[in-house]
Amino acid sequence: MNPYIETLNRNKATKAFIELENYASVHQVPIIQYESLMMLQMLIRTKRVKTILEIGTAIAYSALQMATLSEEITIDTLERDEKMVALATKNIQQFGKQTQIHLHFVDALEIELDELQPQYDLIFIDAAKAQYQKFFERFVPLLAPGGIVVTDNILFHGCVEQSLSDGLNLSKNVQHLAKKIDQYNHFLNTLPEMETYYFDIGDGLAITMRK
Ligand SMILES: C[S@@+](CC[C@H](N)C(=O)[O-])C[C@H]1O[C@@H](n2cnc3c(N)ncnc32)[C@H](O)[C@@H]1O
Repeated sequence: MNPYIETLNRNKATKAFIELENYASVHQVPIIQYESLMMLQMLIRTKRVKTILEIGTAIAYSALQMATLSEEITIDTLERDEKMVALATKNIQQFGKQTQIHLHFVDALEIELDELQPQYDLIFIDAAKAQYQKFFERFVPLLAPGGIVVTDNILFHGCVEQSLSDGLNLSKNVQHLAKKIDQYNHFLNTLPEMETYYFDIGDGLAITMRK
């Protein structure tokens, strides 16, 4: 992010969130980049989003950032890693957000849909990159009319573009993931009833909405 813009945006950062960011950095937990978070928060405010489904909780950094925007916001967030669930539970309690954030210890591809809300204003996809299309197809029926799907990491640290050129310095595993993300990005572009906008911010963000 441009350092000047970052300084302006970072004025909003509170001590409690800076501590979470430091924890993530020290323990190498991937969390949303600040610039992408700003876009996500702006969408939530402008679209007056009240119900959110998040795929991929980690330490609940993004869920807490979304929940603090308004007490009217409720979030179902899905996480399959037991250690992350324990950390997220602790953080949600520390922020006093248990009534707003409902954490499900589950694989997102296995949860019964009737355990979730019938509709969400926003679906945030931020879990296993190779499964993005499966997440989208599984949860898009829960998208409210006028709702939006936000997908993070669509550039995968520049690896998607690299894999399309020679990709020689990428491991086989990273090349595979990068190809899956590229396929997903193009898949979003082919949906007849949806419009996707792609942004080169943070690690790349796709914003998809019904036409
Ligand atoms: C990038 S992190 C989420 C970061 C979080 N959204 C934030 O910005 O603070 C991705 C998380 O998704 C979880 N995950 C990956 N695949 C999943 C799946 N199929 N179901 C549930 N959680 C999954 C991982 O365990 C990891 O904690």
